Amino acid sequence: MRPPWCGRRTRGIPLGLLALWVAAARCLQSQGVSLYIPQSAINATVQEDILLSVEYSCHGVPTIEWKYTSNWGVQRIVEWKPGTPANVSHSHRDRVCTFDNGSIQLFSVGVRDAGCYVITVTEHPGSSQFGTIVLRVSEIRYEDLHFVAVFFALLAAVAVVLISLMWVCNQCAYKLQRKRRFKLKESTTEDIEMKDVQC
Ligand SMILES: *[C@@H]1O[C@H](CO)[C@@H](O)[C@H](O)[C@H]1NC(C)=O
Ligand SMILES: *[C@@H]1O[C@H](CO)[C@@H](O)[C@H](O)[C@H]1NC(C)=O
Ligand SMILES: *[C@@H]1O[C@H](CO)[C@@H](O)[C@H](O)[C@H]1NC(C)=O
Repeated sequence: MRPPWCGRRTRGIPLGLLALWVAAARCLQSQGVSLYIPQSAINATVQEDILLSVEYSCHGVPTIEWKYTSNWGVQRIVEWKPGTPANVSHSHRDRVCTFDNGSIQLFSVGVRDAGCYVITVTEHPGSSQFGTIVLRVSEIRYEDLHFVAVFFALLAAVAVVLISLMWVCNQCAYKLQRKRRFKLKESTTEDIEMKDVQC
């Protein structure tokens, strides 16, 4: 007959291994960085303020970096660790605002800001995550379209008034001409009558 501690011991070793494995897995998992981007494409119009919204989660304090890529190349926009001042590149100074969740806001975008924005969240070398947001910027604003529509409506109204005026003038001129012709006829008949009398 085996002592009771023997059975407990044989069961105890795999349990201990399992606990160790779970702990190791949890540790590995906590070292990973995860990144959530709710909107990966943004349509904006010129002079709009846009938010490149993201949210990350990781164990420690990561370094967040945003880059801008377009047909002309790659450009660094900003780099910071949440809770510390951001290192903003010269090209985007005073035009960008950073948030602790990794998001950035771009003020008064122009057509030249259209392109691909890449965020890299690095917790430590070898543990990083990146994501992209595509920004489209259109030149025509809704207010501009509205203004153009109002302008054309005004132009059409002026044209209608002018055409009406021209029609009225035309009618007046026609009537005047008819009156004058009638008077001329009258005077010529008078002349003829006078000549007749002289003869
Ligand atoms: C942005 O514009 C493109 C066309 O230019 C369109 O296909 C897309 O659905 C738009 N996206 C949003 C979020 O409005
Ligand atoms: C990140 O923070 C900003 C500012 O507080 C907020 O507007 C934005 O919605 C946040 N992004 C996400 C994905 O939660
Ligand atoms: C900010 O970025 C520039 C360019 O990469 C670098 O030379 C500079 O040392 C950085 N400044 C800080 C305070 O990290």
